[in-house]
Amino acid sequence: MAIAPITGVNPRYPMPAYPRGWYSLCDSDELAVAEIKPIQMLGQEFVVVRAEDGRARIYDAYCPHLGAHLAYGGTIEEGNIRCPFHGWQFSAADGQCAAIPYAKRIPAKAALTAWPCDERNGLVLVYVDPEGKPPEWSVDTLPELSDPDWIQSARLEWTVKTHVHEALENIFDTAHLKYVHGSEDVPRIDKTNEEPGKLEFEIRGDAEGGSSDLDIKLWGLGVATLRYKIEVPLFEFDTMTPLDEERVLMRSRIYLRDLGSAEANEAVSQEVTKTLLEQFDADIQIFEHKRHMAEPLLCDGDGPIPVFRRWTEQFYR
Ligand code: FES
Ligand SMILES: [Fe+2]
Repeated sequence: MAIAPITGVNPRYPMPAYPRGWYSLCDSDELAVAEIKPIQMLGQEFVVVRAEDGRARIYDAYCPHLGAHLAYGGTIEEGNIRCPFHGWQFSAADGQCAAIPYAKRIPAKAALTAWPCDERNGLVLVYVDPEGKPPEWSVDTLPELSDPDWIQSARLEWTVKTHVHEALENIFDTAHLKYVHGSEDVPRIDKTNEEPGKLEFEIRGDAEGGSSDLDIKLWGLGVATLRYKIEVPLFEFDTMTPLDEERVLMRSRIYLRDLGSAEANEAVSQEVTKTLLEQFDADIQIFEHKRHMAEPLLCDGDGPIPVFRRWTEQFYR
């Protein structure tokens, strides 16, 4: 069945609550083989399934027959999802109805609604589009995740009453760094690459120039990487998924270069985690209570917020 456009707006954030793009529904290690997992995100009821072939797939949660939720009592049997209510079976590979145990003929339209799914970088990603169109770009594979020199030190998670736009615009709002985060320097931001759906830029703490301290890459408003080129290099892999019109689930996975000893890794990990939690807590208080100014009153000392906003228009139109 065709996917209906998904819509919704939060009065504090007057743009669509579910901008076009890829969003993480769960981490791959949260979905076992033969599992049907209920996921309430993006204002939808999804099921994420992993049949015996090991591939993740995403469907609408409700059976098209009489509306049972497939994750509550449904099972996976020989490549099919079996509905708990009347035993209809749907191919886990494409959602087509494969069998109805008590019918002579399978109705032509009997199929689960399948969502574009890409399992990559340890995430199960869904693509949503305000007009129901198919994906035109994808998230890239991240080399750090398969490089033994990088070790994962933490996975942090927040549920925040905000919009996915906000956490990313915050990076371009350089003036707030001093007043919210206590930083002395105003960094410089330069765009280094732009492709459909993607944006890369570098940030230098020293406004005079010099080499980049931080390389950031965004895939839509749902996936981001931050490569900190500091004394102890850090790789941060972030996902942001709207849960509904009010709340966003944010996850940060922190990777460190292996320092060669468990104690050293642990000490750096704790320090980094503490700093990130403190810094993000300071932002959350602002995010949860502010509203989006479609026409902000900016001054010459503000960061390149309009550059970011122009880039985001492709996800809202
Ligand atoms: S509701 Fe699923 S088989 Fe009837
Ligand atoms: Fe901030």
